[in-house]
Amino acid sequence: MYDEEHILRIEDLKVEFPISIGTVRAVNGVDLELVRGEVMGLVGESGCGKSTLGFSILRLLRPPGRISGGRIIYNGHDIVQMGQEELLALRGSKIAMIFQDPLTSLNPLFSIGEHFVETLRAHEKGISKKDALERSEKVLESLGIAGERLREYPHQMSGGMRQRIMIGLALILNPDLLIADEPTTALDVIVEAQFLDLLDDLRKQYNLTIILITHNLGNVAQLADRITVMYGGTIAEVGPAQSIFDEPLHPYTQGLLASIPNIKLDQPELKTMPGSPPDLVDPPAGCVFHPRCPYVMDICTKERPPVFARNGHRMSCWLYR
Ligand SMILES: Nc1ncnc2c1ncn2[C@@H]1O[C@H](COP(=O)(O)OP(=O)(O)OP(=O)(O)O)[C@@H](O)[C@H]1O
Ligand SMILES: [Mg+2]
Repeated sequence: MYDEEHILRIEDLKVEFPISIGTVRAVNGVDLELVRGEVMGLVGESGCGKSTLGFSILRLLRPPGRISGGRIIYNGHDIVQMGQEELLALRGSKIAMIFQDPLTSLNPLFSIGEHFVETLRAHEKGISKKDALERSEKVLESLGIAGERLREYPHQMSGGMRQRIMIGLALILNPDLLIADEPTTALDVIVEAQFLDLLDDLRKQYNLTIILITHNLGNVAQLADRITVMYGGTIAEVGPAQSIFDEPLHPYTQGLLASIPNIKLDQPELKTMPGSPPDLVDPPAGCVFHPRCPYVMDICTKERPPVFARNGHRMSCWLYR
């Protein structure tokens, strides 16, 4: 199952959250391949399952969330089947994740240096404090932060600085896949732009593959090679970033882009389109988007669309049958 080009292959992934009134099908049969070295933008309205997909790649779903089916093949190994020990080795050192809010992820009682030393020691038991600090300094400096700031504490740093620290902690073990979930939400627009430039530099420097989860289509336009559009726990469309913007093929992608006044003018948030996102406890039959789709046909209400290919995009939509 190993192949050189793809660092990660997700096959028919299903994730559910059992709740009192039923089961939330947060990820409902997702197939996705990541090409080594690419930046994949993952977009879609709130609640469509982006974070759940990101968390399941690292098996970090909080109970009662669970993977109920499918495979996540990373370098030939199925993450869904991994035992605890293998998972711990994978997290951080091979696949790292950064989250929305850097302040809650840093411990106010520990200096920045202590955060780095702890992270390194969790994976490289024998490493000396001196070596750990030296390596941390190098990473900080590659992020444009002076090494002596390792002595400082999280509250002494600005939001942008803390976000860089989070990236540093994610990179210190040299992962090859970085999952960034809304990494710029806590930043102002200028710091955000700098941060995205930095991410772009780092991907080259560290040869990273990145999944960039975001509400902000401006971010993906700037950084992503390809874009995956999610809707209601499924993938609506995948394609090269520029082509998704220029010629969206799935009606949901079209609606999403049309609801943005002018993407080049500012950094627009995704706005919702008419109708509301599906109830994931009781999703519509057939295509999950059919109740909102302007082109709905009879078959859409009955059968779930398979994936069709057109113009380098892949759409789950009966229009392209
Ligand atoms: N712990 C949980 N218990 C029950 N339902 C959950 C839980 N976590 C997520 N969900 C549900 O799973 C679905 C997907 O949520 P998820 O957080 O993955 O969406 P998202 O695309 O990341 O949204 P956002 O853009 O708001 O971050 C939603 O319907 C959400 O309500
Ligand atoms: Mg999310």
